[in-house]
Amino acid sequence: MSGRSSASRRTVLRGAALTPVAGLALTACSNNGEATNGLPTEPVELGAESEVPKGGATLYRDQNMVVSRAEDGSLKAFSTICTHAGCPINKLEGTTLTCPCHGSQFDATTGKVLHTPATVPLNEMSVKVKGGTIVAGPAV
Ligand code: FES
Repeated sequence: MSGRSSASRRTVLRGAALTPVAGLALTACSNNGEATNGLPTEPVELGAESEVPKGGATLYRDQNMVVSRAEDGSLKAFSTICTHAGCPINKLEGTTLTCPCHGSQFDATTGKVLHTPATVPLNEMSVKVKGGTIVAGPAV
C-alpha cells in the first residue's frame, strides 16, 4: 500500500486556503423587501382542498404557505416567510397571521400587513386544485 502522497495533500490544503470563506453571511439578512429566501421555487402540494373552508384560511407550516378561500370559493395562496426579516410565520388565528420574531401581522386573505414592523405584503403564490389537492407555488 502506498498510501496518499503528501504532494496531493498539500495541493488540497493549498486549494482550500485560496478559497475565500467570506460570503456566507451575505445572503442571510435580506431586510430590504426582497425576501426571496425560503420562497418556493416550484409548485408544492399542500393538502386536500376540503381543508380550507369558505371565509377561512389554513396555514401549511412545513411548506411555509397559507391558503385562504373567499366566500365565492376562490383560493389565494401566500408565502408565510415574513417580509420583515424572513422568519417563518407559525401562527394563524382566523385569517390573521402573526410572526413569532417581532410580532408583525398579516391578513391571510390579502397578504396585507395588519401590524408592523413589516411594511411589505406577503408574496402571493399562484394556486390551483389538482385532483382534490391544493398545489401552490411560483407558477402552477
Ligand atoms: S421577521 Fe417577522 S416580524 Fe420581524
